[in-house]
Amino acid sequence: MSDIIARLEAKRAEAMLGGGQKRIDSQHAKGKLTARERIHILLDEDSFEEIDMYVEHNCVDFDMEKTRIAGDGVVTGSGTINGRLVFVFSQDFTVFGGSLSERHAEKICKVLDNAMKVGAPVIGINDSGGARIQEGVASLGGYADVFQRNVLASGVVPQLSLIMGPCAGGAVYSPAMTDFIFMVKDSSYMFVTGPDVVKTVTNEIVTQEELGGAVTHTTKTSVADVAYDNDIEALLAARDFIDFMPLSNRGEVPERPTADAWDRLEYSLDTLIPANANQPYDMHEVIRKMVDEGDFFEVQPAHAGNIICGFGRMEGSTVGVVANQPMVLAGCLDINASKKAARFVRYCDAFNIPIVTLVDVPGFLPGTSQEHNGIIKHGAKLLFAYAEATVPKITIITRKAYGGAYDVMASKHLRGDLNYAWPTAEIAVMGAKGAVEIIFRGKTPEEISERTAEYEARFANPFIAAQKGFIDEVILPHSTRRRVALGLRKLRNKHLENPWKKHDNIPL
Ligand code: HXC
Repeated sequence: MSDIIARLEAKRAEAMLGGGQKRIDSQHAKGKLTARERIHILLDEDSFEEIDMYVEHNCVDFDMEKTRIAGDGVVTGSGTINGRLVFVFSQDFTVFGGSLSERHAEKICKVLDNAMKVGAPVIGINDSGGARIQEGVASLGGYADVFQRNVLASGVVPQLSLIMGPCAGGAVYSPAMTDFIFMVKDSSYMFVTGPDVVKTVTNEIVTQEELGGAVTHTTKTSVADVAYDNDIEALLAARDFIDFMPLSNRGEVPERPTADAWDRLEYSLDTLIPANANQPYDMHEVIRKMVDEGDFFEVQPAHAGNIICGFGRMEGSTVGVVANQPMVLAGCLDINASKKAARFVRYCDAFNIPIVTLVDVPGFLPGTSQEHNGIIKHGAKLLFAYAEATVPKITIITRKAYGGAYDVMASKHLRGDLNYAWPTAEIAVMGAKGAVEIIFRGKTPEEISERTAEYEARFANPFIAAQKGFIDEVILPHSTRRRVALGLRKLRNKHLENPWKKHDNIPL
């Protein structure tokens, strides 16, 4: 018996070394952690239970039968983050460059299947040279098997991808179908075709980092959500992030005790809105003063800054926050902001996370670039997402709510449950000056300015909308947290169902 145990221990020790010490050292020299080190940081101490540690590839081409490494380039299993179950796979770059073989894919599929069975999030750590070249089409099949599972899991269990090395070619489509992507600056990249192919085909010269590094994907493309300086930061952020997530679409949002009083009043908000309506202020301040302990996990903070999306908590329970940001493009809705917020709203709705919307929007961004790139279709995404969402929706208009953008931003007409306005709210079809210039075309500048003042006095307030019941109550800014907390309490048992359909046809 002791012999058998010794053999098992030796086998295990060998498997733990992956591609060997030399390759581990080379991984460290690149500033990267190994697959197992990453899992160690991601999960609670001693909570990881590995499966399929002894799986080997089945390839016999190119003399591959002579190099079999236990685990076959991916470490898989489950563990906990702050006591809550998650499933994990972590590609091991020290084994055949983390490349995906048929067996490697089967291991990832097993993780996804197990997570779906019990309803728990999946975190995938990507660090791979792509398809295992020696295996050819078997590897392509393996990718497609993973893709299919990513799609079926979408909206059922949260899926988070951490890109911590290469992720190229068709391999990018697995993370792309997950809910959120975190990347590490300078050591991770994602592209469909790399710099060499780009140069051959289009003659463009571009570095890996410029083409598909963390900064590119979190600023320009929005493929990824957040960029971190190193593996450790990204892994610790993933722990914080998972703390906000329900385990599955069948579970409740997590609750965590808070010492922050639900009825905390924030008098500083009463003077936040500048006297001049064209002067910006930072909407982050409202968010931080509203949520528990000012703890806010922002997604895509470096992309489409004119809208802020992220997770916070109210009375310990997760909420999604969507907020126009007057500091960027005056808070206008443009293509990028619409797409960013639409995807966020749909995520919240899929996972029963209530949505709090803070509105200060002068309208959609004008211009040929916006129109010719399809603001109609992209703006419709956000409208569609809010309109179909059945989770509790609380909206607070802090200042401007003009035109179509008023409708879009979780208005009463899109089944907003509680629609509040600060006394500083201006709810109208358009800004006073523009409106008067149309209604009183041809009048003298003096008359126009007089009429503008009249229009402002009459329409630049929340009361006309409140008279019609479009605004439920005009609230004092300092009571925002209290009102939102109370509202969410009362909406806890909200039940609303959309008509039966196979699926909708959101304007993609
Ligand atoms: C098999 C691979 C591999 C791969 C790397 N390795 N990629 N083995 N299949 N795809 C092995 C290397 O042979 C090497 O083995 C070890 O991993 C480390 O690789 P290096 O090249 O030494 O590392 P580095 O210099 O850091 O370069 C990393 C890399 C490069 C940029 C990822 O390895 C690379 O270009 N690999 C090929 C990428 C590729 O073309 N993949 C297929 C894409 S097509 P040793 O034994 O020396 O340590 C694809 C289609 C997917 O993915 C379609 C899905 C639908």
